[in-house]
Formats: sequence, C-alpha cells, structure tokens
Amino acid sequence: MSDFLQKIEQVEQEARGRIAGAGGLEALEALRLEYLGRKGKITRVLHSLGSVSAGERPALGKRANQVKEAVSGLLDRRRGEMEQARLRDELSRHKVDVTLPGERPWSGSIHPLNQTLARINEVFFSMGFALAVGPEVEDDFHNFDALNTPADHPARDEHDTFYLEGGLLLRSHTSPVQVRYMQNNPPPVRIIAPGRVFRRDTSDASHSPVFHQVEGLYVDEHVAFGDLKYTLEQFARLMFGDEVRVRFRPSFFPFTEPSAEVDCLCVFCKGSGCSVCGQSGWIELLGCGMVHPNVFEAVGYDPERWTGFAFGMGIDRICMLLNDINDIRLLLESDVEFLSQF
Ligand code: DAH
Repeated sequence: MSDFLQKIEQVEQEARGRIAGAGGLEALEALRLEYLGRKGKITRVLHSLGSVSAGERPALGKRANQVKEAVSGLLDRRRGEMEQARLRDELSRHKVDVTLPGERPWSGSIHPLNQTLARINEVFFSMGFALAVGPEVEDDFHNFDALNTPADHPARDEHDTFYLEGGLLLRSHTSPVQVRYMQNNPPPVRIIAPGRVFRRDTSDASHSPVFHQVEGLYVDEHVAFGDLKYTLEQFARLMFGDEVRVRFRPSFFPFTEPSAEVDCLCVFCKGSGCSVCGQSGWIELLGCGMVHPNVFEAVGYDPERWTGFAFGMGIDRICMLLNDINDIRLLLESDVEFLSQF
C-alpha cells in the first residue's frame, strides 16, 4: 500500500473515532478545523497528492476526496444530533407542554359609549353635519347668558351646576358649543358637538354627575320646523331602524322657541308600558327647537335674516337603550368584566 493511501486511511480512522467521541458542539467545531480547515490534516493529505506518481493519482485522489466527504458528512450528522439533544434537554427541563392552548394576548375593545357616539356621528355626517368641540370648563356667558338663560333661571341654581373658582363652571350641557361656534364662524352652520357634561346630581341608576351629550345646530336662511322634524325623524330611523316610532311633544328651553322633546316608542315594551319607560310606553330621546332670536343676537348673527334649529341628546341614555343596560353607573365605572361584553 502506498504511503499516501496508508496516510489517508489512518487519518480517516482517527477522525471517525474522534468525531464519535466529541463531547459537544465546540469540540466538534475544533475537529472540523483540525481535519478540514485550511491547514487541516485531510487538507494537507490532499495537497500532498502532487508528490504521488501520475499513474496512481486519479485513484488516490478519488479516495482522498471520498474521505473528505465522509468526514464532512459525519461532522454534520453529529452536529445535528447534538442540537437535537440540546433542544430535547431544554424542553424537558422547562417542562413545556406544547399541546396546551396558548395564552391569548389581552385585547381591548371600544367602550359602548364610544360605539354609540360613533353611530350618532355617522348618521349626522351622512346628512352633512360637521364636528365641533368646545371646552368642558366654561363661563356663565357661554353656558347660560348667551343661551337666553338669565341669572335668575333655575338652571343656574348652584344645586345644579359645579362652580369653580374665578366665576368658571363645568359645562352643564353641550349647548355652549353652539355659542362658541357661531361666535367664530359665519352662517350657514351645520354642526354636531359631542362631549362630556357635568351636573350636581346624586348618582343612581339613571343619574350621574358626569354624562355625555351630542349637541346639534343648523343655521341658514328659511329654516323651518319641518326641517328639524325631518332631520330628527331621519336620525331616529337610521339609529334605531325603520320601524322606530317617534313623537314630538311641546316643551320649553330658554334658547329655543318653539321647543319640543322627542320621544321614541319604548323599544322594550313596544308602547304597552314597562319599568324602563315608566309605564308610559315612550322613552325621551332629546330636546330640540328653533334657535331663539336672542341667541342669534348674543353671537352677532342677524336674527331678521338667519333661522335655525338646535337639538341636544344624551349619549348615555341612547347607549343604554341600544344595549339593554339598566344602570348608567355601569358605563362610567371602569369595570372590565362588564365592558368586555361589548
Ligand atoms: N341643553 C339641553 C339640556 O341639556 C338640551 C337641549 C334642548 C339642547 C334643546 C338643545 C335644544 O340644543 O335645542 O337639557
């Protein structure tokens, strides 16, 4: 046997033995360098091919390459086995049962009040109303005086309104946004203004010191009560469905003349009378009316030329109706258990 052949067989044997006995991935990598690296033992044998006779060279070269492939393959196989073993070991140490259902990530949802507001917005946007906002801390002028509500009006009673220092107050309704909008924009006007309002009410199932309203204001030339009626009937239909029945009832608000309240036939008892509608068969939805000329005067609109209607509705009340919720306090206490139903 030629020296070359002997050498290559010997290197192969040795490599097989050492690979089989390698204790870890690092040892294996060291072996790869030792045998197959640039100055590795097998590499060196291959380089020495030049010194064998030309006749033997093809056969010996072939054999040497087989050895190189075999050792390389062995190294790869051992590496694979070691990695598998390490994974198995880790899995068993952490006792992971991969067949158990995973933990779902917490996912929030939109608060029912905001869902309701989004629907109200959508209905009025579809009729061409735009969004307006105003501050929650107001003054007497915007919350009352400009809305034709003089100082001796019962709504200004300290028992109803939260007064702050410096003559400021927490707005008791969203109607001051009407005033601020008209002060800053010339007619025509077509806005809705949703937001939080505050009253010194003791909370119970239907009262909360904090609740939410959507104000609406439409001003143009020749606006008639029929426009108001059509708009609000259309709103009720889009909000509650075609089968909804609404009625307009004469009422009083200082900032509208004439004024009305709009009720819808109780969605729970269909008018026969139940505890939700207080046996009346009707549920109050909103207040509305034709904008009082004194309000136009207060904001600098010419009451001889401009006409309009306004309305204000409680978002909490509508949300409760739509979702069959019987206590307003549930909406404002951040009870995740309750909210996760929506
Ligand atoms: N601001 C009234 C309230 O809080 C609701 C209201 C009634 C608003 C009539 C209006 C309106 O714009 O025209 O009770």
